[in-house]
Amino acid sequence: MRITHLRGVELTDPAPERIAGFYEQIWGLTRVDAAGPSVYLRGTGPEYHILAIHPGEQATVRGYRLGLADRAAVDRAAEELAARPDTRIVAGPGALEGPGGGYGLRIADPDGREIELSAEVAPAAAALPGSTTSPADVVRADDVSVAGSVATAGGPPIRPAKVSHVVLNSPNAEDYLGLLIEVLGFRVADETEHMVFCKCNLDHHSVAIARAPHASLNHVAFEVPTVDDVLSGIEHMGAHGFETLWGPGRHPQGMNAFGYFLAPNGQVVEYTAEVEQIPDGELAPRFWVPEDYEVYDDWVDISSLRPTPETRTLMRGVPEVTVHGEWQQ
Ligand SMILES: [Fe+2]
Repeated sequence: MRITHLRGVELTDPAPERIAGFYEQIWGLTRVDAAGPSVYLRGTGPEYHILAIHPGEQATVRGYRLGLADRAAVDRAAEELAARPDTRIVAGPGALEGPGGGYGLRIADPDGREIELSAEVAPAAAALPGSTTSPADVVRADDVSVAGSVATAGGPPIRPAKVSHVVLNSPNAEDYLGLLIEVLGFRVADETEHMVFCKCNLDHHSVAIARAPHASLNHVAFEVPTVDDVLSGIEHMGAHGFETLWGPGRHPQGMNAFGYFLAPNGQVVEYTAEVEQIPDGELAPRFWVPEDYEVYDDWVDISSLRPTPETRTLMRGVPEVTVHGEWQQ
């Protein structure tokens, strides 16, 4: 099976409109017209939508969406998956009802989420201008006239193009990696003592799995065009009262520049840029040990290469009991 890309992430939230307001007015996504209680948001890239927020009892990751090349690839995937006793098809293959339509199926992951495999989803209606901010574009703290609102025209200066990667905390990490690698065809790009980075295209990683005591979101990363946009994003978020949890920095695994923040729903989100592009033939996965960080030589402050204990705690997330009932303790 050949996954082409990560299309986007699906969240649940007790107040979809409230968290959608954050993503739309501050984070820099754009709402896609859709009927019903769910909210769909796009980036500047070609994907019809990259973030869906559905009503639910708790802020969770309901699942995520992966691309396949065409309808025939979806049908081949369905045959392969149906023949495996270790994989459960939840729906499809068939026409998809969400915005953008398409043809696909959904499978269950080992932690009770759903993964959509889809093709022929409509492209986004029209190209949106990207950000690539200049310092003059950045909203300054002294532009804030009313708490929580910024006196600026034209909306947020930061415009993510796509979801770069999703990192999931899993109590079933080995099973999860089996699904990603042996069933869905992901390749391991790098590994640390607690995290495995998995790639499906040139991007160093699109999905990463963290070994953890419970199922939860570690973070979702949104790609912005350049490292300048990450730095501008840090300034922009600060002007809105969102302190940077971790960053600016550049990850040794994937070489991507980053800034991490806590969204109002308690989930960790990341602006990232310049993710390493690796053809499969040049893949050289490495197991990183803590000592490797001591010799890492880059422009960043060495202390920024690893999250603080407080940030690590936030990334451990809240156990997603409403989705993962079997895990409840
Ligand atoms: Fe990340």
